[in-house]
Amino acid sequence: MNRYVYLDNNSTTPVDPRVLDAMLPFLKEKWGNPNNVHRKGREAREAVEDAREKVEKMINCKDGGVYFTSGGTESNNWALKGVAFANKDKGKHIIATPIEHKCILNTCKWLEKQGFDITYLKVDKEGFINLEELENALRKDTILVSIMLANNEIGTLEPVKEACQIVKEKSDAYFHTDACQAIGKTEVDVEELGVDLMTISGHKFYAPKGIGALYIRNGVKIDPLLHGGGQEKGRRSGTENVAGIVGMGKAAELVMEEVSKDKEKLRRLQKRIIEGITSRLEKVYLNGPSDLNKRLPGNVNFSIEGVEGESTVMMLDEYGIEVSTGSACSSTKLVPSHVLIAIGLRPEIAHGSIRISAGRFNTDEDVDYFLEVFPEVVNKLREISPLWKG
Ligand SMILES: Cc1ncc(COP(=O)(O)O)c(C=O)c1O
Repeated sequence: MNRYVYLDNNSTTPVDPRVLDAMLPFLKEKWGNPNNVHRKGREAREAVEDAREKVEKMINCKDGGVYFTSGGTESNNWALKGVAFANKDKGKHIIATPIEHKCILNTCKWLEKQGFDITYLKVDKEGFINLEELENALRKDTILVSIMLANNEIGTLEPVKEACQIVKEKSDAYFHTDACQAIGKTEVDVEELGVDLMTISGHKFYAPKGIGALYIRNGVKIDPLLHGGGQEKGRRSGTENVAGIVGMGKAAELVMEEVSKDKEKLRRLQKRIIEGITSRLEKVYLNGPSDLNKRLPGNVNFSIEGVEGESTVMMLDEYGIEVSTGSACSSTKLVPSHVLIAIGLRPEIAHGSIRISAGRFNTDEDVDYFLEVFPEVVNKLREISPLWKG
């Protein structure tokens, strides 16, 4: 019997059993609508507000608050569209990076169709933006800058604090960061970063899928994305996902208690995986920062010459190991990841890329097993691959 090893925590994390325990009463007996004034409603309201406090505390929110959404995609859509439309009389220029998640990039594309002008900063071969380029890109009509805190594919930790300082000194633009990947794996502090808006997704830090939040600093002009009954202080309508919110509150509490321990372990496992792959295989190239202090803890991304990412992922799956590829498979063709292309990889090298991402529940034994199986899988695939010119 093979071991089962999940190393795809940047895709999603398992629900922490302590999170599930906290949620269950809100799916069973405490099923009230928090917008009702009766006892059942008040019970749900208290739980929602308690969870809000925990999420706010986790990100050290002192000015403004968090608003619950359905996840990272909604929060990113809301931040960009909401700020764009509320501030269009001030300007129509937005700055982003080409390695943002698709929910930022496709929102930018849509905003371009609505008459907004988007500047995409260049990134270097490790995925880092250039702060001078950011400064030069700022204009009188720039209303928003959106730069992710941690890249989901190659783990680049962008210099968001420094970028935000420049934006605040040189312009009147708001600063948004997508922190979906960073939360739970490293400390995230909105006061220290200085950002005006920040996106949070529950399923990246051991809460369920379908729950997230947007942090909004006081004074930020932002339109709602969803109109309706006026929940979340009129900013995000829709009856609250109480159980999901309670789960994310519990997950936030656990992050506060455990992030330094988790981070240390993730760094150790990450280092072991990187060193293990490099020492066991030739012609493999690490994508993203080589300085692990500038890389999302737990994230590893390699291009493996002579193999296809998809085949590697499928064969590892047969051994009970789950990782991701750097390509998105559409029905007709393989599209290499936009992130790998933006850092300058040739499409054929990008196709041979895989992402391995550790999480809270991984152990050293998981990494031992992975390092035992992985070279075997790559060598088997190379033997039959017309791409391999070993
Ligand atoms: C960086 C980043 N932003 C946004 C998202 C989207 O979040 P959600 O799945 O909660 O919609 C993801 C999820 O993959 C992500 O990695």
